[in-house]
Amino acid sequence: MRHCIYPGTFDPITCGHLDVLARAARLFDRVTVAVAENAGKAPLFTAQERVAMIRPNVAQFPHVAVTTFSGLLVEFCMEQKADAIIRGLRALSDFEFEFNMALMNRHLEPQMETLFVMPNEQFSYTSSSLVKQVAKFGGDVAHFVPPNVATALRKAFQAS
Ligand code: COA
Repeated sequence: MRHCIYPGTFDPITCGHLDVLARAARLFDRVTVAVAENAGKAPLFTAQERVAMIRPNVAQFPHVAVTTFSGLLVEFCMEQKADAIIRGLRALSDFEFEFNMALMNRHLEPQMETLFVMPNEQFSYTSSSLVKQVAKFGGDVAHFVPPNVATALRKAFQAS
C-alpha cells in the first residue's frame, strides 16, 4: 500500500490543487490531503472550514482522506506511515522554495521522499491569494475554484 501526503494551506483549495491531487490519486493507493493549521499565513478560512471545503471535491476518490496537521510536516508523515510527500510545481518560480523545503524535510527525515507533479498548464498562474484577491473585488473565480469554494468566498467577502 503506497501512501502519500499532499500538504498545503489550501486557503482555499483551487482547481490547480485538485489537479495535482487527481494525479497523486492515480499514482498512490492512499492519499491524505493535510491541511496545515499553522502555516505562518493568516488564513481567511479556519482549518476546519478548509477541510470542509475540500471534502466534497474529493468524494469521488474513495482512497483520499482529508485532515489537518500542526507542527512539523515530516513528523505528521511518519505518524501516518506515509511513503512520500506530494507537491505541485506550477512554474519555475515555485522551484527554489519547493527545492529548499524538500531538502529541509529530507534533512529532518531522510527516508521521507518529496515527489513533484505538474498541474495542467491552465492552472500555472493560479494561487489561493490571487483567487482571494479577485473574489474580494467581485471578480469571477469560477474557472479557478470548485463551486462550493466560489460560494464560500462570496459569503466571506460579503460578510467583511
Ligand atoms: N494550484 C494552485 N495553487 C497552487 C498550487 C496548485 N497546484 N500549488 C501551489 N499553489 C499555491 C497556493 O495556492 C499557495 O498560494 P498562496 O501563497 O497565494 O496562498 C502557494 O502556492 C503555496 O501554497 P501551498 O501549496 O498550499 O503550500 P504552502 O506554502 O501554503 O504550504 C506547507 C506549505 C504547509 C506544506 C509547509 O509550510 C509546511 O510543511 N508546514 C509545516 C511546518 C514544517 O514542517 N515546516 C518545515 C517545512 S521545510
